[in-house]
Amino acid sequence: MENMTEDKIQTVKVEIPQQLGYFYPIIIGENILDKVGEPVKNYTKAKKLLIVTNKTVHPLYGKKIKASLLKEGFEIDFVILEDGEKHKNIHSLETIWQKAIEFKLERKDVIVALGGGVIGDVTGFAASTYLRGIDFGQIPTTLLSQVDSSVGGKVAINNKLGKNLIGSFYQPKFVLTDISTLKTLSVEELKVGLAEVLKYGMIEKSCGLNGLNISLIEYLKQNKEAIFALNTNTIQELVKYCCELKAAVVNKDEKEAGLRAILNFGHTIGHAIEKCSNYENINHGQAIAIGMKGTLFISKARKLIDENYYKTCLELLDLYGMDYKINKSINPEALYEAMLGDKKVLSGKIRFVLSTGESEVDVFNDVDKEIIFKALKTLY
Ligand code: NAD
Ligand code: GLY
Repeated sequence: MENMTEDKIQTVKVEIPQQLGYFYPIIIGENILDKVGEPVKNYTKAKKLLIVTNKTVHPLYGKKIKASLLKEGFEIDFVILEDGEKHKNIHSLETIWQKAIEFKLERKDVIVALGGGVIGDVTGFAASTYLRGIDFGQIPTTLLSQVDSSVGGKVAINNKLGKNLIGSFYQPKFVLTDISTLKTLSVEELKVGLAEVLKYGMIEKSCGLNGLNISLIEYLKQNKEAIFALNTNTIQELVKYCCELKAAVVNKDEKEAGLRAILNFGHTIGHAIEKCSNYENINHGQAIAIGMKGTLFISKARKLIDENYYKTCLELLDLYGMDYKINKSINPEALYEAMLGDKKVLSGKIRFVLSTGESEVDVFNDVDKEIIFKALKTLY
């Protein structure tokens, strides 16, 4: 493991070859919220910043960011939204646009998301549409947003008929990731992010990187205590590596024409569980963890992986406390219907990302209905 000092700041470069020469930095460190002025100066021409956050995150980190940006001479204002997935909607979008107009934000100015994935997604979508596109920065404050949603430019809002149905691909100008913000996160929210981290372990080789001196699965096995204790070096190394894995995929396939679909390992079943639960009583990480177990079952049933690897992955999920089950009130038929209704269905075929070897996956759209039902039955 690299020997890191506590105040070490590291940068992951996200390159988007489809937008010639375009890249942006993910700046990762501890206690660096007061450094947000630097990427704003280096990667934008902004004089004014509109910071979008919510009622939970604003009292925790709003003051700190405000003080540091005012010191750097920026003019700033805040939009403070209600907290929760149900506010990732058109009304929040309208609130952001309205404030941007009143604050007279110009094209060269910046809208910054300060919060988890909900804030990042709605803010990014607002930035992609205000004045036909204004610069956008992210300060992700949950583990999920630090390792996943702040990377790769998917921005969206929900519609009453489904999640993330209205959105765009809109890359930020910078991401500033302060791992110390994870200290105020609940363990349940930390585990939402950890479910995505475990997913990276299961798709690592297919991302085309081998950046640690052991496999990510082995690293996760060895470092559970340090991760839950939010040990600085371990968390920073882990967040950075997950960003590198996602950046490598996005670099090859920004708009999900092919490879990027592998990031949805476990999500076909997971999204169906979330939908059938009306996005209540189960969070995204829990649903994805169950989804990964079902997906591993299908992969083993199709003889794509052996019993040993299947066991290794299940044990890893258990090690991280991902011992969740589908609520008995949701029947497998309803889950199957929900999978058929997913926006990722192609020509009526349910798309699964299956394990094809250790930390390797591929996309399949020919999984038998019978195997899907067998897998679902193991998840109650
Ligand atoms: P979230 O944004 O709702 O945050 C979870 C909770 O933690 C919220 O109550 C929030 O206020 C609180 N919070 C945030 N930072 C905190 C901190 N430092 N301390 C204490 N509390 C804090 O949820 P999330 O899991 O971060 O993100 C989920 C969203 O991300 C979903 O809408 C999902 O669709 C989206 N998502 C997007 C992508 C993408 O590529 N754009 C990828 C994955 C998920
Ligand atoms: N979270 C999946 C993606 O960004 O493509």
